[in-house]
Amino acid sequence: MTVIPDAADAFASVTNPWLQGAFAPVFDERDDHDLEVTGHLPGGLRGSFLRNGPNALFPPLGGYHLFDGDGMIHGLTFDGDGGASYANRWIRSAGLEAEIAAGGALFGGLTDFRLPPDDVFATVGPMKNTANTHVVRHAGRILALMEAAPPTELTADLATVGEHRFGGALQGPMTAHPKVDPRTGEMVFFGTSPFPPHLRIHGASADGTLTWTTEVDLPGSVMMHDFVITETRVVVFDLPAVLDVDAMLTGGTGIYWAPERGARIGVLERGAPGSTIRWIEVDPFWVFHFMNAFDDGDAIEVVGCRSTQLNTSFDGSEVDADVRPMLYRWRIDPVAGTFTEHQLDDRPTDFPRINDQRAGRTNRYGYSGHSTGWADDEPPFDGVIKHDFSSGTTATHLYGPDTVCGEAVFTPDPAGAERADGGDEDRGWLLNFVHDLSTDRSSVVVLDAATLEEAARVHLPRRVPFGFHGSFLA
Ligand SMILES: [Fe+2]
Repeated sequence: MTVIPDAADAFASVTNPWLQGAFAPVFDERDDHDLEVTGHLPGGLRGSFLRNGPNALFPPLGGYHLFDGDGMIHGLTFDGDGGASYANRWIRSAGLEAEIAAGGALFGGLTDFRLPPDDVFATVGPMKNTANTHVVRHAGRILALMEAAPPTELTADLATVGEHRFGGALQGPMTAHPKVDPRTGEMVFFGTSPFPPHLRIHGASADGTLTWTTEVDLPGSVMMHDFVITETRVVVFDLPAVLDVDAMLTGGTGIYWAPERGARIGVLERGAPGSTIRWIEVDPFWVFHFMNAFDDGDAIEVVGCRSTQLNTSFDGSEVDADVRPMLYRWRIDPVAGTFTEHQLDDRPTDFPRINDQRAGRTNRYGYSGHSTGWADDEPPFDGVIKHDFSSGTTATHLYGPDTVCGEAVFTPDPAGAERADGGDEDRGWLLNFVHDLSTDRSSVVVLDAATLEEAARVHLPRRVPFGFHGSFLA
């Protein structure tokens, strides 16, 4: 175990809410084996559950937003024989290495952007690639992602290899929410930039070669966090969360809600030039995360977590409770130029996931976070909602009293060959990092995805901070 000396003491006087309580960073890199398990770990669950999230090593220079922290991967490895081990590592970005050499923070963040010293700017650039948002595996590479930068490749032991630009072919950043077509293995993704072209869409073949890049005209720079694919198309939502670099560079708020700018949904055939995208104007709303989408003739059905407006602030101000996201379905017909939407559930939710074998196709089931009391400065989730879109029903599992959790990640049971009717789509498990506030300890809880009953709980030696997204690597 490696512990960063004096790191905790350096945060003693820091009062930023994103660095307190369940969000507070941890300062050790651990390897713990033979962990205590309650219940029985399924034999088919063999592999590593990796989850990414922010974990600042140094106190911020000034303002700090949850999205600013240095990426840290928490990994739980199941040996398939009832045992489990845990390891966690910071992502050693060039920016973080420069800060370690300097002994303190050198970069600003979303709420308080600052350029680093000239010598660091010359070698690292204007910002730190924290790689703190998601971690995926494609073509055998483990990639840690954040949307303002290229991916960062990691080894299976969670050591940082460095930025991965697909052999130099990738221009600009890559979203933290790529989509992998389960049939072809193609990874489709986009990248946004504050400078033109503001949007590029890419495809990487199953062997990891970047085979397709096209530029898409946007009226200006926006924060675009997620998108969806179908078997034939890419759907992007150009929503008015403006990304204003001039404001950031002059000390202002760099991301803000500007509904007067309007909103549009763009539909592009996969592999086609960006100039052929069809846009449909819609009334503004906000989505961080989509669940899935599929083709239905000319039309596309999309499900995602919709807020009336951007539901987080980047200037330290409060956000009204009535902009909590809820699950919606949109039907978009780019040929007829029509768009309809309807609400699927009246409870606030986010972090939607599916059985990724259904990505871009009809899915019967989806899973998303349950929130009993959504507040701006606390982890929102304490359970998982299972949505059955065939019957129109839901089921809910709460992880326990005084408990917060992250995103429930579905992993299929390898013994469950999928039936054509989708009947086995939920044969597998939901994995989640769960934090007991009363003991300040975390565990990884394994739910049977079919019943939502707890199959097993792996007890971790300490708290794991609230984080973002992750993947199960079989
Ligand atoms: Fe996300």
